[in-house]
Amino acid sequence: MDPRYDLAANFIAVYLPAMVTNAAPVAFLSRRRCTPLDLGLVLPDGRRLLGDGKTVEGVLVGLVSGLAVSLLLALSLPEFSSLLLRTGLVSSCGAIIGDLAKSFLKRRAGIERGAPLVPADQLDFYLGATLLVLACDKCAQPLLASFLLGLILVPLLHLSTNYAAYKLGLKRVPW
Ligand code: CTP
Ligand code: MG
Repeated sequence: MDPRYDLAANFIAVYLPAMVTNAAPVAFLSRRRCTPLDLGLVLPDGRRLLGDGKTVEGVLVGLVSGLAVSLLLALSLPEFSSLLLRTGLVSSCGAIIGDLAKSFLKRRAGIERGAPLVPADQLDFYLGATLLVLACDKCAQPLLASFLLGLILVPLLHLSTNYAAYKLGLKRVPW
């Protein structure tokens, strides 16, 4: 199981940390009052910089959860431990950057926090993670097949887990 060449191992090494980072704030913080990352800043267009859906706690919980998963992966494949840790950290950071960039652009387009924007809401973190990992020459690189698999799998997982989170009362909207 070499995460550089084996499809399943490659997908897990590159994308699992990003997926966990993206899901963690909904799972752990939905009922809490958190501090908006933009501290309420409104830009000259009259819209928030990011909005209340992007919080300091969300970023921290996402990063810690992504790192925890990377650590588990590193422990289960010790010969690739530093590669897995590095890739996981970069993947998690990319997921956060992609999510924040998407919210920034949604606000500029006048779309309210939480209003759906398909497929950006599903793929923001995925594309962010892909780009940042590609930019890291010491990380495991996503195989083309991994990337294509994720393009199909990630939106399906995102929609089904968000619907489940809505049913469980963890999310205000089912998307
Ligand atoms: N969340 C958070 N901090 C983050 C990301 C997410 O606190 N950095 C939490 C927020 O409670 C957010 C929820 O996870 O409402 C779902 O995240 P997401 O769907 O990305 O945010 P939206 O509320 O839909 O906001 P936006 O329209 O900006 O995407
Ligand atoms: Mg959303």
